[in-house]
Amino acid sequence: MLALPPDAPDHLDGGPVSGLDDATARWLTSPAGLAAVAQATAALDGGEDTLQLSARLARDVADAQRRAAALSAAVCRRSARARWAEADDLLFTREALEQASDPAVSAHRADALLARAVGEGGGFEGTVLDLGAGVGGDAMALARAAARVGARVVAVDTDPARLRLLAHNAEVAGVTITTRCADGLEVTSGPGVVCHADPGRRVGGRRVRRLREHRPSVPALLAAHADALHLAVALSPGVEPEDPDLPPGLEVEYVQLGTALVEATVWTGAGAGAAAGAGAGPHPALRRATLLGADGTEVARLPQGGREELAVGEVGAWLIEVAPAAVRARQHDALGAAIGARRVARTRALLTCDAAVPVSPWYRAWPVLAVLPARPKAVRRWLTGPEAAPHLDGGVEIVLHGVEAEMPRLWQQLGRPVRGPSGLRVAFIRRDDDAVAVVTRASPSDAPDPPDAGTDPPEAGTDAH
Ligand SMILES: C[S@@+](CC[C@H](N)C(=O)[O-])C[C@H]1O[C@@H](n2cnc3c(N)ncnc32)[C@H](O)[C@@H]1O
Repeated sequence: MLALPPDAPDHLDGGPVSGLDDATARWLTSPAGLAAVAQATAALDGGEDTLQLSARLARDVADAQRRAAALSAAVCRRSARARWAEADDLLFTREALEQASDPAVSAHRADALLARAVGEGGGFEGTVLDLGAGVGGDAMALARAAARVGARVVAVDTDPARLRLLAHNAEVAGVTITTRCADGLEVTSGPGVVCHADPGRRVGGRRVRRLREHRPSVPALLAAHADALHLAVALSPGVEPEDPDLPPGLEVEYVQLGTALVEATVWTGAGAGAAAGAGAGPHPALRRATLLGADGTEVARLPQGGREELAVGEVGAWLIEVAPAAVRARQHDALGAAIGARRVARTRALLTCDAAVPVSPWYRAWPVLAVLPARPKAVRRWLTGPEAAPHLDGGVEIVLHGVEAEMPRLWQQLGRPVRGPSGLRVAFIRRDDDAVAVVTRASPSDAPDPPDAGTDPPEAGTDAH
């Protein structure tokens, strides 16, 4: 059951926010506008200066707003090439490009949402609502996933200009998307509908972290679409699983793309609650982590583990850095418990242990060579001593964990060792009552980079080294 208001007026809360008015968007998506964008892109590719180009464009495009929109779309196309295969035909505004999800992450989320829709208990009537669809980064991925199961996507946004660009982008991508200019909080979903939302994470230029500060507000979205079969809300990874506006029993998935933590997705609906039991207690939501390779393929998934609280102890033979998605999902203690590790400090997600640990995509284990006071002089002395000598050819890397330092000055204080990624690594670590400098070899033994490693969480007691 789906009831959508007719095309809504521009005064709705939140829009239009694209910096592009509807008339200019209509021109931009016309043959004349597209020709201007293509001309501007080619000129920028050829090294033409933007001022010069703007003056030249004025010969064909008299309207200053149209010229600015074409130029901005051309600049965006060039930066979108790194992420979208079809970038040279897509249309963006600067803000919309900044807000668009990475296509690899969009595809992962869209596939997971449609799998839930068709996978559990039936009842999916075939409509996916994308609430706050922008220029369609996510909507295109949703439409591809929906087409595979015979479903359709309705893209909802308060900004009519963005929706015009979305319609153009959908055509370029070869997908079918219906657009509706409406408030995503007023659109009716219902029990047979699946919803996706990607609320704005910046308000007045400031990055927001609280759920209620997003646009549209996440608690309002959850309330407005409480009846939906499934709802996936893409949020900043800075969102806390303990946010007071997150109802108990939901699922929060922290997503890491390569080595970068990129987002937290809140899932509601059947399946999200498999969670409910595990989500009880001090943390209301089920928290899990997903690792995607750079191409977006899922490398590993970490379900919520136990609630072990690891003891804190001295740094042992291995220093273990847990993948950021697992740390955000508060899984570091469960991971550590499975490999017999302890924490370096109560306030740090860094682990340590005495025996070699199995290779895992969820952490990197660095062989410890020395634990020193966190004083530059002490580290400098060690770096010029016999133990450091065999490793120095590969250079020295510095990492800071909770320690503040002015890097150029620190390098100077350390005697300016040759920098490099394959010799030694010095981790300055703030502990609960003091700080230490832990010198390790710079390659984490034979552990590969997280995204390329195997897919299974570590098993207690396995010794892969
Ligand atoms: C982060 S952007 C979406 C980006 C999009 N998912 C993509 O990948 O291209 C958020 C969008 O929400 C829209 N928005 C804000 N408040 C809204 C509301 N109440 N109803 C519908 N859309 C809204 C904004 O106009 C903006 O386009």
